[in-house]
Parts: sequence; structure tokens; C-alpha cells
Amino acid sequence: MKTATREQLIDQLNWRYATKQFDADRQIDPADWSTLEEALQLSPSSLGLQLWKFVVVEDPEVREQLKAASWGQSQITDASKLVVLAVKKNITEKDIDAHLQRISEVRGVPVEALAPLREMSVGSVILGKDDAARDVWASRQVYIALGNLLTSAALLGIDACPMEGFSPADYDRILGLEEKGLGSVVVAAIGYRSSQDKYAGLPKVRFPKEEVLLHV
Ligand SMILES: Cc1cc2nc3c(=O)[nH]c(=O)nc-3n(C[C@H](O)[C@H](O)[C@H](O)COP(=O)(O)O)c2cc1C
Repeated sequence: MKTATREQLIDQLNWRYATKQFDADRQIDPADWSTLEEALQLSPSSLGLQLWKFVVVEDPEVREQLKAASWGQSQITDASKLVVLAVKKNITEKDIDAHLQRISEVRGVPVEALAPLREMSVGSVILGKDDAARDVWASRQVYIALGNLLTSAALLGIDACPMEGFSPADYDRILGLEEKGLGSVVVAAIGYRSSQDKYAGLPKVRFPKEEVLLHV
């Protein structure tokens, strides 16, 4: 099996940075983009429930509107691709059943055999949390997909900027997410850095390993 070497992994994690200025003329190769979409789809989530949608914004006019709702940050319009990572709202037992149905199809097990998993999932997600706690928990899962996307892009030598600097309410309105039962959580602009982006050359600012890693 072909894997990245240790050096390649660390090199790419050092190479990546939150790109401030994208090269607006450089587009991601469709096969690379399709690979990154698949990386998003393969993201893990608690109980495997995948309570998310990844909204790839294709329309340049819509991206202009989103830029205005993102404090004018140029990544929103200049990056080759823009993904709004959204969470499902108003989660119910139906969402759990949709996942169990999918397990049944993919693994060829009868849904009835999944009753213990159903009981555990409903207990944890529906009965065990109030609406606010459930929303927070589901949104956290979306960040796992974001991390997966950022690392995957870095391994392919593709730049990205994770972004929370936007108005979720405005995004939801512009993209019609509320009527789809979704809410925007975080954004990823993906493409190639501009040669003018002075942030590309700055050293990475991280606390020393000894401070962030506790071996107990
Ligand atoms: C969830 C999240 C939201 C962020 N939002 C923005 C943003 O709106 N605009 C921006 O330019 N950078 C944003 N950043 C980038 C961070 O400032 C950056 O990742 C951090 O300073 C570490 O630097 P590095 O990613 O270049 O290594 C965000 C990062 C994360 C993880």
C-alpha cells in the first residue's frame, strides 16, 4: 500500500498555511477536486451519522454576495473552490434511521439486527441531549470534516483557508440553507496561493511540542 512518508506528512503540514491571497487565475484540476470531495465524504463522525452537507458554491455572483458577508475577505471569491460546511438542523430519530438504512444496504445486514445500535444512538443523540447541546455536538462533527479536508488538500499540494470570519445567518439566507434544514458552520476556500501572499513565507507559530503534548 502506498502511503505518505513521515517526512512528506510533516513537510506538507508545514507547507500548508491559512492562505490569505489566492491566485484567482489558477484552478484546481477536476480530478484533484473530485478527490478532495471524496475526502470530505469519507470524513468520520460520531456514531457515523454524517449530519452534514458540504455546499460547493459554483456561482461567481453568489460568491460575491458571500464575500460581502465575510468582512470582504478576498479568499471567498479568489480561491478556485469554495465549500460551506453545513450542519443538519432539527435532528430527529429519522436521521438515525437513515444511517441505519444505509448500514443495512452497504453491509447487507437486516435493519432489525441494528436495533441495539438504534437504541444506543437514539439514547445518546435524541434523548440524551437538549436541542442546544445537540446542535453544538453536531457542529463539532463538521470541524472533523474541515480538518480532514485541510490535511487532504495539503497532501495534494493544494492550498486552503479555513474560515469562520463570516455571518452564518447571512450565508444561510444567501444559500437558502434554512429551507434545506441546514445551517452554515465553517467555510473552506481551496485553490493555489498567490505569489504575492506575504503570509506564505512566515514561520509557523505553534507552542512547543513539550507544552502541547502531555504524556501522563
Ligand atoms: C476554524 C478556523 C477559522 C478560521 N477563520 C479564518 C478566517 O476567517 N480568515 C482567515 O484569514 N483565517 C482564518 N483562520 C486561519 C487561522 O488564523 C490559522 O489557521 C491559524 O492562525 C494558524 O495558522 P496556519 O493555518 O497558517 O498554520 C481560521 C482557522 C480555523 C481553524
